Amino acid sequence: MNKELVLILDFGGSFNQLIARRVRELSVYCEMVPYHIALEAVKAKNPRAIIFSGGPAGEEEERPECDPGLFELGIPILAAGYGMELIASHFDRSVMPGKVQQGLEKIRVLAEETIFKGFPGETVVFINGAASLNDVPHGFKALALGGEGQIAAIGHTAQKIFGIQFSPEAGGNTAGAQVLKNFLFDIAGLRGDWDLDTFISEMVLDIKNQVGDQKVLCALSGGVDSSVAAALVHKAVGDQLVSVFVDTGLMRKGEPEQVVATFRGQMKMNLIFVEAEQRFLAKLAGVRDPEQKRKIIGEEFIRLFEEEAKKLGDIKFLVQGTIYPDIIESGTKTMGAVKSHHNVGGLPKDMDFTLVEPLRLLFKDEVRMIGEKLGIDKELVWRQPFPGPGLGVRVLEEVTKEKLDILREADFIIREEIKKAGLERNIWQAFAVLPPVRTVGVKHEARTYAYPVIIRAVNSEDAMTAEVAKLPLAFLEMVALRIINEVQGINRVAYDITPKPPGTIEWE
Ligand code: XMP
Repeated sequence: MNKELVLILDFGGSFNQLIARRVRELSVYCEMVPYHIALEAVKAKNPRAIIFSGGPAGEEEERPECDPGLFELGIPILAAGYGMELIASHFDRSVMPGKVQQGLEKIRVLAEETIFKGFPGETVVFINGAASLNDVPHGFKALALGGEGQIAAIGHTAQKIFGIQFSPEAGGNTAGAQVLKNFLFDIAGLRGDWDLDTFISEMVLDIKNQVGDQKVLCALSGGVDSSVAAALVHKAVGDQLVSVFVDTGLMRKGEPEQVVATFRGQMKMNLIFVEAEQRFLAKLAGVRDPEQKRKIIGEEFIRLFEEEAKKLGDIKFLVQGTIYPDIIESGTKTMGAVKSHHNVGGLPKDMDFTLVEPLRLLFKDEVRMIGEKLGIDKELVWRQPFPGPGLGVRVLEEVTKEKLDILREADFIIREEIKKAGLERNIWQAFAVLPPVRTVGVKHEARTYAYPVIIRAVNSEDAMTAEVAKLPLAFLEMVALRIINEVQGINRVAYDITPKPPGTIEWE
């Protein structure tokens, strides 16, 4: 599908996906592969350039190594962070890693090499737990030095192999971004031929070829990924696609209506709406443990979906909104999961479907852009992340209809005010949580005994870490007053100021 491919070898650093996103942002198609990928597999992919990502910080005993044959392919290599140590030790066993640095560091560029084109002589870069070198490997030149004269970048111009101690992916780090650009366009000679319009037309053909004249089933969750996947499949095969939307009763205010209006109304898709609030609430009655709630909600969803699929008869294909980070997480990394992230709309594992996964090569921002191009409601396309089990994990402890209704109203006010203030796209997530306690308050000179609601608003790049959104106090006070005045059953509002880590984004 793509002419120009860049391979990114994943050595396990926590921000490695960002490198891939930065490369795609430069209109260059790239794929992330495990660092131990076989040489033959690399050759078969025929990449135009290779990037080595940073490695896991602080684990000094573990030194993941790639196939040394990669250095002999004549393909330009840019090795960042841990990757620079790897090149050094490959070319010259006597070179040792020097001081490990973390954070913003000043470096001085020594030679006006192509890779540092447009670089100021001295600049600040972000180093993510990577070591400098104590010497220049044989055949290489030192291209930049750190504040204490340590070697921060090396290059072998003839072989087009470069090592940099700093991260080219760090947000807002224009120096790092410039190196990436120079490497891709000037050193590797790429043109940047990755564009989403071509992707859409090629994927539409792919889907047509895959499903022929067969029917295709899709579980729409109302989330971005399943919505865009469905729209793409619909563009390819029209009414052969049947979508099922299950109203679990755990959605936010107005959400089920929005899904129907968008897909049935606007996009004229074949949509089956299953009203199942009672069923979910009955299953959740008396259940307090969040993991158990997730399991129940997931299983009930699958059961309902199976019932609908059976009614529709023999369907072979199932659309999944799998996106590239899902594949990277399972394929190139082994990271421990803090919570079992079950997505409602997830795959019924024992059902015998062939999967249609039109977004499997895309990052979230690309999925959103495609959603816009396909004419999906902007509000839906730019929707904030929302847990699969929905408000079932934001009503803490036992979930009841009464608590869900209270939470829905409070959550609606928060989101409405954020939108009015024009902050929607500046905040990763803003929502309400309902804890299982009641406290005393006073309203119209009478004592109240009601629930508090907690406002959670965070900023994040990838949900792995998050910082508290610094919402103005006056804004928070205004929202709190609205909630207390308008939502029956709430008499107190708190703002959660815990970053992740040590907190998580959701409370559960
Ligand atoms: P935590 O609470 O682990 O959440 O910091 C990280 C991000 O994941 C979202 N989240 C989910 N997303 N299915 C999803 O697609 C889920 O089951 C789920 N649970 C949590 C959460 O909202 C945050 O953005």
